[in-house]
Amino acid sequence: MDQGVDRSAAPVAGVSVVVPTFNEAGNVPLLLNRLGQVAAGAGLREVVFVDDSTDDTPRIIHEHASRSELPVRLLHRRAGERIGGLSGAVVAGLHAARWPWVVVMDGDLQHPPEDVPRLLQGREGMDLVVASRYCAGGAADGLADTRRRLVSRAARALAAATFPRRLAECSDTMTGFFAVRRAALDLPALRPSGFKILLEILGRHQLRVSEVPFRFAHRHSGQSKAQLTQGVRFAQQLWRMRWDAWNAGLLRRVGAFAVVGLVCLVIDVALFNALLPWGKPLTAKFVAATVAVVVSYVLNARWTWPQRTTASRSRQLALFAAVSGVGIGVAELCLLVSHYGLGLDSALADNVSANVFGLALGMLWRFVAYERWVFPRAGAPVQPGAAIEPVSDPGGPTGAPEHGPSQRRRRATRILCGLPAQVPGAGRPVPERSA
Ligand code: GDD
Ligand code: MN
Repeated sequence: MDQGVDRSAAPVAGVSVVVPTFNEAGNVPLLLNRLGQVAAGAGLREVVFVDDSTDDTPRIIHEHASRSELPVRLLHRRAGERIGGLSGAVVAGLHAARWPWVVVMDGDLQHPPEDVPRLLQGREGMDLVVASRYCAGGAADGLADTRRRLVSRAARALAAATFPRRLAECSDTMTGFFAVRRAALDLPALRPSGFKILLEILGRHQLRVSEVPFRFAHRHSGQSKAQLTQGVRFAQQLWRMRWDAWNAGLLRRVGAFAVVGLVCLVIDVALFNALLPWGKPLTAKFVAATVAVVVSYVLNARWTWPQRTTASRSRQLALFAAVSGVGIGVAELCLLVSHYGLGLDSALADNVSANVFGLALGMLWRFVAYERWVFPRAGAPVQPGAAIEPVSDPGGPTGAPEHGPSQRRRRATRILCGLPAQVPGAGRPVPERSA
């Protein structure tokens, strides 16, 4: 590919910086200035402001863009277009970003631009690098007061309790300062609302995450836009993500289990009838039922609980068969109660108790018992990354995501300033390391 390029000396691959702004006129000039000073070394290629301001921030951005070292793009969302607040703005910025990696940071200089190069150095082999206030070497001094600190701590604890595995690798799930590999994200899956976009990203993806410490600075100018309502939004967001994650997985497993059950029922009945001419109905039933249980185990292990098959398959199969046996017992019990206990002895009643209630209860028992005991959840998270293309593929045509602003976002773009047209590769996929 691009032989002869000394990659160790080359600046890191192209990076877009996304900055959400809401009335940050007093901060934009200094932010652009300080970003400009680290741009070349860090491989920054553009700054995308996603602005929801009601003051003259857009004008200030315009004014300073021409003096900026970096190409500046502005996506100004007018009243009625400000979907998802801060988080929605970040997602709009991720849509609009044209380089494979995106740094997301605040516009009030609480996230020091000088930390951006260090943040990007942490990305080798990763999908997401989080600038953390809470890992060794980080600091949260910029949080306004003790109350903000306590709220931040409680929110982190609640989030970690809700997503113990996905959030395990991240000590600062509430930070708004991070670098992300654009192609690792499924943007339409995000449901941005409120302030916690990183949490939303972590809760809905399996990403390779690393952290670098940073010192959360004090606001340069203006006021924080965080309000009490953010707390309510945060709780709603957590609940929704938990529900979606749980739902997606469980519904899929129930569906797979039902299909496997149907397939095995057909096998059971067909085999039984095929063996009947033998003249040994008891043996025929035994063989048919055994084959059905083994097939059921194999299919459920492969489709319903694929990540949960243990090393000892024979033990798992034995347990599976035992649970199935109890399942038959459940149907028998239903029949026993209705036929002998309640005296409902018509053929219809027997069918209803054995093949409607009995079958349903037996299926329910089996599903729950398989979930809990036969295919229990493993302790460690499923290794991500297998399905993710390698980051370091130099210059490959698929090194960058095929993406661009959606139609709706495009309409929301009011002003485009700076030098977007001159950006190499503007508007089309950019190779990860074309330096
Ligand atoms: N476009 C847009 N729309 N930007 C917004 C909005 C909005 O509705 N609300 C806030 N912003 C911008 C601000 O202009 C600023 O650049 C950034 O988002 C962060 O907002 P602040 O008002 O400075 O929030 P903060 O300092 O309380 O919160 C920071 O710390 C939190 C962790 O304690 C941010 O970094 C948060 O992202 C972070 O979660
Ligand atoms: Mn701030």
